[in-house]
Amino acid sequence: MRPADHTPSEPRSEQRFEDMHFEPAPALAGEVPGPRSRELLDEQEQLESKARSYPRSVPIAIEEGRGATMRDVDGNTFIDFFGGAGVLNVGHSLPAALKAAAEQQDKLVHSLDFPTTPKLGLMRKLKEMLPGRLKDSARFHFGGPTGSDAIEAALKLTRAHTGREAVIAFQGSYHGMSTGALSVTSDIGLGGPPTSSVHFMPYPYCYRCPLGLQPDSCEMACAKLLDTSLEDPHSGIPKPAAVIVEPIQGEGGTIVPPDGYLTELRRITLEHDVPLVCDEIQTGFGRTGKMFACEHDGIEPDVITLSKALGGIGYPISCIAYDARLDAWAPGAHIGTFRGHQVAMAAGLAAIEFMQDVDLPSHAAELGELVLSLLRDAQESLPCVGDVRGRGLMIGIELVKDRDTKEPWPEMAAQIRTECFRRGVVIEVGGHFANVARFLPPLVISRKLLLAGTEIFVESVRAAEEALARPSAMLTS
Ligand SMILES: Cc1ncc(COP(=O)(O)O)c(C=O)c1O
Repeated sequence: MRPADHTPSEPRSEQRFEDMHFEPAPALAGEVPGPRSRELLDEQEQLESKARSYPRSVPIAIEEGRGATMRDVDGNTFIDFFGGAGVLNVGHSLPAALKAAAEQQDKLVHSLDFPTTPKLGLMRKLKEMLPGRLKDSARFHFGGPTGSDAIEAALKLTRAHTGREAVIAFQGSYHGMSTGALSVTSDIGLGGPPTSSVHFMPYPYCYRCPLGLQPDSCEMACAKLLDTSLEDPHSGIPKPAAVIVEPIQGEGGTIVPPDGYLTELRRITLEHDVPLVCDEIQTGFGRTGKMFACEHDGIEPDVITLSKALGGIGYPISCIAYDARLDAWAPGAHIGTFRGHQVAMAAGLAAIEFMQDVDLPSHAAELGELVLSLLRDAQESLPCVGDVRGRGLMIGIELVKDRDTKEPWPEMAAQIRTECFRRGVVIEVGGHFANVARFLPPLVISRKLLLAGTEIFVESVRAAEEALARPSAMLTS
């Protein structure tokens, strides 16, 4: 068995990462979208729901993916700075994961929640990776296939354990689309039913402090507000079953809390005997430069939700890891048909072993530092860039009309996305005001590819500034 603190078995060589992608990239045969992509997008429009989202902003029909690159049906090759919304930490089509998946597929695909070799192997592996005492005390529960299922399980488990109903979530949060997950998601535009049992607290979004304070003098007043709300019988908030937090908010605009905030959150929740759920669905598996983002502050949550990169190369799977003392469930209390996708488990295990072998979190940390410093240098000559932030390869660039007023500029973010796409780089946009350009590339991206993509991004910001400065602006369509 591997030791708990895994020693990487291979030196992290740039060549190793360079060999994982389509070459050359980006490489566009002509204008994008090309003719075949247009055909498929048109047909999709006839067949699929109006809720379809990504192809509206990045009009591409993808044919194949390798590492941090994708090829469309017209043969155009793109650098992928989106990574399937943070799923593809080991990149598209990692050979080791494909092999593990193919071998498992030959043996067994579906098994409800019976014990199997891939499932036990994955749980063993996850347990040795977890922070702090969870290494000894963790129990796992596999949910249905998406991250939202893990959130549902976490809410239900903490409610069962505490016998309480209320939950505290954060402004700017995104936890998914199923009813429970939506109830703790703050974006009213997504149609979440306002649930009287969920209360939203301010997140430490220091660039736009919801309390109007400055980070160097605020003394973490937002954490204090949570503390007093839990203490004060007149706060209007009943003692909650859980506090659920993203250790870095993803869809909310890549918002990194200041050092020590999560430690304070852990202190407060322990003091008030409220389970802390860390949603690591987007931040997990090396994304932020550590295997789990909560490790940056050295905290041990009671529950960790996992999905996205858990299935390795995009197989759908989710699970919660939690302290065994919370295991209040009776047999069969949280069931489901697809809670044991063996191929996803085998691929996920192979992907995690690869992450450990090449020390992928450290690669993400190093490259993240590099990109942040390049973007911060470029920011000086890009007036629309209000803030550059991130950790590891989870990076956000907040676009504003004026750096002093910080008026959000969502049209600029959309235009930059379009300019990037035209030049062969796929990015996405998020944030409270849809004004944050986001990088979530596969962590296996090479330094060379990352630098090329970042250069194109900066060029795209200049092009977008020019485009929106013209009187007949709005060239995104
Ligand atoms: C932090 C976080 N939690 C939960 C989810 C929901 O996951 P899924 O879309 O797989 O249901 C997401 C998806 O982006 C997420 O970023």
